[in-house]
Amino acid sequence: MLKVLSDDDVESLISTDELLRSVAEAFKELSLGRVLMPQRSRIEVAPKGDILLMPCLAPSLNVFSLKIVSVYPGNIKKGLPTTNAVVVIVDPENGVPSIVAEARALTGLRTAAATALSIKYLARRDASRLGIIGCGYQARWQLIISNQVMRPERISVYDLLSERAERFAEEMSAKIGVKVTPLASAEELVKSCDVIITATTSRAPVVLKDWVRQGTHISAIGSYTPEMAELDPRLVASAKVVVDFLSAAKEEAGDLIQAVRASLMGWENVHAEIGEVIAGLKPGRVDRDEVTVFKTVGTAAQDAAVASILLSKVS
Ligand SMILES: NC(=O)c1ccc[n+]([C@@H]2O[C@H](COP(=O)([O-])OP(=O)(O)OC[C@H]3O[C@@H](n4cnc5c(N)ncnc54)[C@H](O)[C@@H]3O)[C@@H](O)[C@H]2O)c1
Repeated sequence: MLKVLSDDDVESLISTDELLRSVAEAFKELSLGRVLMPQRSRIEVAPKGDILLMPCLAPSLNVFSLKIVSVYPGNIKKGLPTTNAVVVIVDPENGVPSIVAEARALTGLRTAAATALSIKYLARRDASRLGIIGCGYQARWQLIISNQVMRPERISVYDLLSERAERFAEEMSAKIGVKVTPLASAEELVKSCDVIITATTSRAPVVLKDWVRQGTHISAIGSYTPEMAELDPRLVASAKVVVDFLSAAKEEAGDLIQAVRASLMGWENVHAEIGEVIAGLKPGRVDRDEVTVFKTVGTAAQDAAVASILLSKVS
């Protein structure tokens, strides 16, 4: 019988260990060409936002999922979430749709898992200062999961809207039991952190190359169209860049597309997909001083990873 799950149900059914294991497996399978994942369709509802359709069959996880996710940056002003989503989960053994679930939490969790895996393979082992730019819904999950894998000594946050950063810092300090400090500028944050996560809807770079110290790791999750970028193209061109899925990055990762269009780098300069690093086919960080960038636009394989956990728990 079809089960219907809320975001709260999804959150309560998924442990961080299972999440990281399943998303790592999905990334590996994706890079080894063992999932069926058509390029996602983006339907532009100009000028308000985008609706994305994201299907994936992951045979090793024994799941098919189709997520519909919308991104409406103007929703903040209306008191509505920027990102809204729902997922249909089908059992590939019999083709029966088994679960329909709200997928805001699923999206937050699987995106945070991508960052956490990038920290595991690309950040310095002694990285102790975490910074997050953009204090919205994704940032909440990014902070919760990254805090669990990294156990940072200091956490700083910044948002274009200072009251959002202050409220976020207060709420998250209480939630994770570690002090979260709002800073007055992105520059101050970048100059003082070892691991930086960008989770904004920005169309212009929020992290400039000259601010970034040697050995920093950056996970950029915000941009998903050629026009959007959070990172200085000169930074991207000079860093060791790892992506979630190269063919999607070529179409959607504005941070990289803009650096390539400016002839600062070529696609051959992308070091690896994270799945290749997880599978041991390519190295992660090899040098204490290198600057690493993980650019994720988000893949349906990550959704399938979470869907497979849900399927195993509720059917
Ligand atoms: N990579 C992925 O898999 C993935 C998954 C989900 C969402 N996203 C993307 O992540 C982005 C954030 O999503 P969300 O749901 O958290 O949105 P949100 O609107 O809840 O949060 C975005 C925050 O960024 C802040 N911001 C915007 N421009 C900024 C700037 N220049 N400097 C500092 N802060 C700035 C906003 O004030 C806001 O607080 C969106 O673009 C969304 O599409 C990516």
